Amino acid sequence: MENILDKAFSTEDFRRQGHELVEMLADFLTDATSDQKDIHVMPWQDPQQQLEYWQQDLQKPAVSPLDLFKDVMARSVQVNKKRFVGHQTTPAVPVSILSSAVVAALNQGMGVYEMGMVGNTLEKVMTEHLAQKLGFTAEASGFVTSGGSLGNLTALLAARAAATQVWNKGFEPDQKLAVLVSEEAHYCIDRAARILGFGAEGIIKVPVNNKFQMRTDLLESYYRKATAAGKQVICVVGCASTTSTGSFDDLQAIAEFSQRHNLWFHVDGAHGAPSAFSPQYRHLVKGIEQADSVVVDYHKMMLVPSLSTALIFKRGADAYRTFSQRAQYLWSEQETEEWYNGGKRSFECTKAMSVLNIYTVFRTYGEAIFQENIERLYGMATSFAARIKTNPHFELATEPQCNIVCFRYKAAEDASGLNKEIRRQLLEDGRFYLVQTILNGELFLRTSIMNPLTQEQDLEELLAEIEKKAAALVESVE
Ligand SMILES: Cc1ncc(COP(=O)(O)O)c(C=O)c1O
Repeated sequence: MENILDKAFSTEDFRRQGHELVEMLADFLTDATSDQKDIHVMPWQDPQQQLEYWQQDLQKPAVSPLDLFKDVMARSVQVNKKRFVGHQTTPAVPVSILSSAVVAALNQGMGVYEMGMVGNTLEKVMTEHLAQKLGFTAEASGFVTSGGSLGNLTALLAARAAATQVWNKGFEPDQKLAVLVSEEAHYCIDRAARILGFGAEGIIKVPVNNKFQMRTDLLESYYRKATAAGKQVICVVGCASTTSTGSFDDLQAIAEFSQRHNLWFHVDGAHGAPSAFSPQYRHLVKGIEQADSVVVDYHKMMLVPSLSTALIFKRGADAYRTFSQRAQYLWSEQETEEWYNGGKRSFECTKAMSVLNIYTVFRTYGEAIFQENIERLYGMATSFAARIKTNPHFELATEPQCNIVCFRYKAAEDASGLNKEIRRQLLEDGRFYLVQTILNGELFLRTSIMNPLTQEQDLEELLAEIEKKAAALVESVE
């Protein structure tokens, strides 16, 4: 039998392919700012066709990995392109692409100190640095987990552990737990509450104002109504920011309310908490330092590849209450707070050392890169919104607070249908990628300006393209 394994582990092949890959990726990234007509952000293909392509590909003879990568790259949405203004995915700053290769090569397990000596230590260093930036005291600490959804679930588990015995004893008869959250919160909060056994009745959605921020003036009455219905509210979640419109809840007001009722205060800062890096925008997260827990996605506004999420606890020790459980083969001393044994506090056992990516960006460029990124992207969104407001054909859903702008082409009737069709056509053309969202029952176009290489001219071009498509669509029905 041919010795495939020895060939696969040949470092000579790796060296040659690695050099070629870096050349190929550098060309790919250089194309990110190209204005050529044939540069496509979205090589859209129907899911069934895509499936058939890869099913057939799997049957083909062995391929050079470089050819395979080229194919994958050409068929994927290109988040690094300057006309990608869709979801909140950052183009990975190039040095973090290199550090990702080191993460894969080292393949640390992370659950126990021995399997992640540097990684577990960097998680402590980085989350404590971020905690200080958000205004917490030295008591705050945290760790890195795989995604905002898992981070929010873990925080709500900690909130439940602080208020109940459910982790060890299960639910008491008639024990109905609940969480208060804005109706605009990311769906993962609703999902987390259901996973925790709160049921649909346990997710109390507080209405938003016309800026899509939680109506904190209603918190008291919603809380009283829940209590009167026999529910035990254990937590309030603040959004910094919401996903659809990038709106920031009044965290200060939520903090005061939570303190008054002795409730856990969690902030979903997956997208917007890094506003704290900018003196100009820090006011958006005022009050965040009073939260019991905060989630921040490094992979959204902090320029590194997915997934990498900081989960910070105001009192670092709270993290150890979440998963009190014996795993003798891993930890000899279960009851002690060992920050260096990552698995004690995290849902995950084996976990990527994704913290190396954010640490590399810090050590290479310093934290000023995050201030610059926030200010450039938020600034661009403000100018884009101003341009939309001066064009009589468009309407803005709400004034942007960060780098998310929702707007639409106006129409005498069925504006939702028209904008939906405009987006569908834009997706098919592939020169821009933007998404859509539903606000107050109406469909709006949604742009997240995530790429610091995007320019105002690209956004002008996007509006011009939308106008062109809208005019043709309106004409075709007249
Ligand atoms: C506000 C907010 N919270 C949580 C999430 C979920 O984060 P992740 O995709 O990292 O699981 C998102 C994702 O867009 C988000 O916008």
